Amino acid sequence: MNLEKFRQSLPIYSIRHRLIAEINKNPTLILLGETGSGKTTQIPQYIYGSHSHMKGMIACTQPRRVAAITVAQRVSQEMNSELGKTTGYCVRFEDCTSPETKIKYMTDGMLLREAISDPLLLRYSVIILDEVHERTVHTDVLLGIVKSAQQKRSTNKKFHKPLKVILMSATMDVDEFSAYFNKAPVVYLEGRQFEVDVFHSVQEQTDYIFSSIATIFQIHKTAPVNEDILVFMTGQEEIESTVKTISELNKSNGKLSPMLVLPLYAALPSAKQLKVFEKAPSGCRKVIISTNIAETSITIKGIKYVIDSGMIKGKLYTPQNNLELLKVHKISKSQAWQRTGRAGRESSGICYRLFTESEFESMTLNTVPEILRSNLLSVALQLTALGIDDLINFDFISKPSVEALTTALNDLELLGAVKKFFKDNNGTENPEPVSKKRMISFRYELTEMGRKMAHFPLDPKFSRCILSADKLGCVEEVLKIVSVLSVDSVFHAQTNTSNKRDQAEAARQKFSSADGDHITLLNVYKAFMANKSSSKEWCQENFLDLKNLKLAVDINKQLKDICTKNSIKLTSSSNDSVKIRMALISGFFMNAAEYQKENEYKTMTSRQTVLIHPSSVLFNSKPACVLFNEIVKTNKTYMRDVSVISSNWLMETNPTYFKSKIKNLNDYSLSNLNSNIR
Ligand code: CDP
Ligand code: MG
Repeated sequence: MNLEKFRQSLPIYSIRHRLIAEINKNPTLILLGETGSGKTTQIPQYIYGSHSHMKGMIACTQPRRVAAITVAQRVSQEMNSELGKTTGYCVRFEDCTSPETKIKYMTDGMLLREAISDPLLLRYSVIILDEVHERTVHTDVLLGIVKSAQQKRSTNKKFHKPLKVILMSATMDVDEFSAYFNKAPVVYLEGRQFEVDVFHSVQEQTDYIFSSIATIFQIHKTAPVNEDILVFMTGQEEIESTVKTISELNKSNGKLSPMLVLPLYAALPSAKQLKVFEKAPSGCRKVIISTNIAETSITIKGIKYVIDSGMIKGKLYTPQNNLELLKVHKISKSQAWQRTGRAGRESSGICYRLFTESEFESMTLNTVPEILRSNLLSVALQLTALGIDDLINFDFISKPSVEALTTALNDLELLGAVKKFFKDNNGTENPEPVSKKRMISFRYELTEMGRKMAHFPLDPKFSRCILSADKLGCVEEVLKIVSVLSVDSVFHAQTNTSNKRDQAEAARQKFSSADGDHITLLNVYKAFMANKSSSKEWCQENFLDLKNLKLAVDINKQLKDICTKNSIKLTSSSNDSVKIRMALISGFFMNAAEYQKENEYKTMTSRQTVLIHPSSVLFNSKPACVLFNEIVKTNKTYMRDVSVISSNWLMETNPTYFKSKIKNLNDYSLSNLNSNIR
């Protein structure tokens, strides 16, 4: 079928005239339609086709970069134009647009970033927020920004350019969005959904990976080979190792027909991601092991069977100890139904749920918006950079707790990104509260440092490290470390024989620094650059991940560009590990821990017991005081990306913070803090 015919066969095609009429009539429209019905690829084309004279661009946001990229590719094919011309995309660290671009697919995070320099989003005439049901932090914040920009652009004659807003969702619960946008009308799009038989496990499963593999082979043994299988799991490592296990098992069996087993997750390079859309060779079954990325934002043809682990990896946050964790947890009922639906796109299908019916009943109805389970540091910096000085009263669609917002603002103040101003009842502003009774309110303003920090598409803690490196004269080194920390691990995770494991360990020793993981990562980066001409073989020899290292080099380049644009000199002090770690402390001083006993550490801020992660080069040493980037929780609580520091440095970088810490903690003494590295 040619592309034009294909477009006409999509369910959305039959209501295109009505849709355009509704879009013209209403400032905001909500479109609800089953995954695969044509919302993402067609709506921007319909609008472009009927408003060719329109000056501004059409933005269509996606929660994930893969979706933004693949959809833009697809749409430029359908429009028979080169990617990056009329249709383009923009994701973090990659801008594929030109001055001619009219339809711009982008991640929600990128649009949010653009809003900092263009709060009224004046370069857009239409903004489509897609996959709103996913409720990512960025989409939630954008809802507030887009709503406010729309109001301002409609009331202020100066702008003469109203902003059209379209929200698109694949799930039913759209009332909240409609209410938030002044009772915006909802258009329901009938999808073509075939019947899917759902089977629950009879008993609770203790190991969903094992159960998934067993189910795949059950299907593979009996079902016609052209019926493909989609399996929902949780993350990169688990998916890659499952892909390997299945392929090997199938090969070693010898009697079964061949299987093409493919991984799908956000961090997978786009070329590999695109493989899932290709048809398997005849006589071969396609099995895709995916994260929730295939739940709604990507449609794969030919899927007859869905296997649902019932699990997802997502953020969990507790403001009490300011801890954000990425954890595997149960999905919601609405996600389970979305996953089920993937089996009934072209004909009837079957969904195997690897959980019992009563486990299903105990799931929450809808997914809790991510903003209610995230650390809000980045969001708070971005919103303050947008000039929103009273975050507590910002019109969020789902309001985070005052505690979470206050924690984020306090942390930003500690990082030197914002300054608090108190207003008394005469309306006078003071940097300090004059008297408690007279203070009526306060607001936060971005500092010069904060303004610079907001330019980096990074966690504000990392941005702060870069700015301190500017003062200390080690920008090159810190940028390299930040780049490597921005990608998934550069060390190969899978080494299944003990012989290989020893070799991998020996290779790693070459880069290892007694100062910790950050300097080790810097060594890896430098060695990679020195061996660039033979990088593929070199990575193999050293058990390093070529793809992730290449990505880090790419990110490094972009961060350098941002530095140059902001007059940050690319200084270097290549062998001064102390300076580099001092720069890291300026952003991560809240992540310090000191040694207790028997490998245990206590974090200085929340007094939690933590251990050094086995992947760290410091795993077998016990420095008195360490700095870490993140906490991971499995059966134990681990610090990951750890470096040796001196507690003196903490006092030096942030005396006020650490003095107040001491006051609050009676089991803590100054001498303790001043003890040096053992
Ligand atoms: O957004 P929605 O889920 O409603 O659908 P869409 O993403 O616009 O996709 C409509 C159809 O286009 C899908 O059913 C796919 O068959 C096809 N498509 C494709 O072949 N390749 C892509 N990269 C995207 C969509
Ligand atoms: Mg879509």
